Amino acid sequence: MTVITNIQDLKRIYERRVPRMFYDYTESGSWTEQTFRENSSDFEDIRLRQRVAVDMSGRSTASQMIGQDVTMPVALAPVGLTGMQHADGEIKAAKAAEAFGVPFTLSTMSINSIEDVAEATTKPFWFQLYTMKDEDYVSRLIQRAKDAGCSALVITLDLQILGQRHKDLKNGLSAPPKLTPKTIANLMTKWAWGIEMLGAKRREFGNIVGHVDTITDTRSLGTWTAEQFDPSLDWTKVEKLMEQWGGKVILKGILDAEDAKMAAKLGADAIVVSNHGGRQLDGALSSIRVLPEIMDAVGDDIEVHLDSGIRSGQDVLKALALGAKGTYIGRAFIYGLGAMGQQGVTTALEVIQKELDTTMALCGEQNVAALGRHNLLVPEDFGGRWQK
Ligand code: GLV
Repeated sequence: MTVITNIQDLKRIYERRVPRMFYDYTESGSWTEQTFRENSSDFEDIRLRQRVAVDMSGRSTASQMIGQDVTMPVALAPVGLTGMQHADGEIKAAKAAEAFGVPFTLSTMSINSIEDVAEATTKPFWFQLYTMKDEDYVSRLIQRAKDAGCSALVITLDLQILGQRHKDLKNGLSAPPKLTPKTIANLMTKWAWGIEMLGAKRREFGNIVGHVDTITDTRSLGTWTAEQFDPSLDWTKVEKLMEQWGGKVILKGILDAEDAKMAAKLGADAIVVSNHGGRQLDGALSSIRVLPEIMDAVGDDIEVHLDSGIRSGQDVLKALALGAKGTYIGRAFIYGLGAMGQQGVTTALEVIQKELDTTMALCGEQNVAALGRHNLLVPEDFGGRWQK
């Protein structure tokens, strides 16, 4: 039995266990993958200030995100096709998050439906919304999330059109996989995944199939986004969606101070500084690099969260010390899910909490709220040598 000591251990098991097309879906950025790579490598540019002879007893990673208590400020990010990484993937991840005490965010492009996850859990989860041309469908989706008791709507702003990830096109990514000679050959080496998948509650996009009739290929994320997503989404429409929802709103995909100011002006409860895990605009800056500028612009007006690039509790600590009140992991929990189902997600959360707690202690802090710029060593030109 492999001893799991870090997220990379889970990733290795995940790679062996899950069909290549779904591994590639997770492990891709758009085009050259520069932004995807820099999301992680930019965290390494920031160093930590060790402090000693500080009382480290009674430490806690607990805090709040949008007023909700969390065991640590690390939510599970919305990830499309999670139920293809492991049978009933969204249900399993949601249960692990609930037991751990962190928020779970269900993607519009999930396999398990909103109702499936609500039925399997006892505490409210968050729902991530993609906006579609079909306004009736969007209204129904919002209503379904309300009926399921979701406690926040996470509106994604950076995916009106899908960034190109070369491998997904080459693999013919679909849910469930289309049976070509290439996929059959690969699936034959993934029998444990396949046997569990035969017993899964769903193998198609659960929020869509049976709820919309104007789609030509229900299996393809690419077809769905190209045919259905609303390319005309603008701030006026965002405001209307917020009104329609009427509850807590998190605006996800902000990478520019001007956009952060707009989000604050609209009265959202939080923004997520994010470049969609490097999957949309390749060549954009990493989330951690733009965080200080966004904090300067709106830090006093709105709660700021961050995703993209977090693979450890040290990354979480760096984001918090630069001012974020919350963070999200996407790939890091998917590795755990693909590797070991619900237990793997729990393990990913445990690994990250332990890293966060130990790092906090060695930086001389007892709780996450006390973290700040004073804990970090940041290169003078971390904001970049670029000119606007
Ligand atoms: C969808 O959200 C994706 O990034 O694939």
